[in-house]
Amino acid sequence: MKKLDRVALASLPTPVEALPSLTTALGGPQLLVKRDDLTGLAFGGNKTRKLEYLAAEARAKGARMLITAGSIQSNHCRQTAAAARKLGMDCTLVLVGKPTLSPEANTYLDMLFGAELIWVPKPERRELRLKEVFAAKHAASRKPFLIPYGGSNPTGAAAYAYAVQELAKQKVEPDWIVFATSSGGTQAGLVAGVALTEMKTKVLGISVDEKAKTLADRVATLATETVTLLGEKKRFKSRDIRVNDDYLGAGYAEMGNREHEAIHLFARHEGLLLDPVYTGRAAAGLADLIRKDFFKKKDTVLFWHTGGQPALFADKYRTGLLE
Ligand SMILES: Cc1ncc(COP(=O)(O)O)c(C=O)c1O
Repeated sequence: MKKLDRVALASLPTPVEALPSLTTALGGPQLLVKRDDLTGLAFGGNKTRKLEYLAAEARAKGARMLITAGSIQSNHCRQTAAAARKLGMDCTLVLVGKPTLSPEANTYLDMLFGAELIWVPKPERRELRLKEVFAAKHAASRKPFLIPYGGSNPTGAAAYAYAVQELAKQKVEPDWIVFATSSGGTQAGLVAGVALTEMKTKVLGISVDEKAKTLADRVATLATETVTLLGEKKRFKSRDIRVNDDYLGAGYAEMGNREHEAIHLFARHEGLLLDPVYTGRAAAGLADLIRKDFFKKKDTVLFWHTGGQPALFADKYRTGLLE
């Protein structure tokens, strides 16, 4: 794999840990966790890996500010705001929601980093507003660099192909990798990385908000483009991509009983924190699939923890989790 330019933002390699108590509690395959919640930058998470390559591209282009978009509790936005500051840049975030006088959790952190927050009332307005903001900053000679939603373009996804190389160096080759998938960059990178390192591992994304077919199409395209960017050749089809959309529950960022149970399972068996939106939903899917004997007992299943825990402190989830 070709090496792309990188700026160091993350503490790597992240540890791989066994989950013995959870393995026993679920009576299932051997469970491991890859701790990308420990990537380090401003409470870490998967976006920090992507930002190492996206920010390098921004720097190479002489950018002085990063612009991106996300939901009100976007982990991607929080990590982008922190990355911008670490690199001496400004940051503007287009957030879906209403301006608030008492920002919570990730939004509170965005403000601590001094990011400029621009609000749009509905997700459908996000992309257009992002383009308008970029054009306005460009016209004002602020040298903006646009990071797509979720950092999910080939440059961002490449970080997860390298993350698979990191896993191979840790001498871990699980039968399955299970994780939360949303904008698809993490999954595209993992799929590309597993193919290029010739691992036998199967990559299963638990969708947080998208229908499986939509996401599989997007991931296949992005994985193909990522491999090309890395100077290799391989074409992925939608049917090569494993996405499970059985756990969408009441919709994006709506915590239900399943997420509630998964957060408690991990907290009380392993002292490990999940988040209510992404890893909680993915872990709920994992637990359910184990109970349905989807995996073989002798399998090793690695849960790739993608971070997101600051959302635990948002009022919307905090109270419910203690019930
Ligand atoms: C904690 C967490 N996990 C998983 C994801 C999904 O990653 P991707 O957007 O690359 O599919 C996100 C995206 O925002 C996230 O914040």
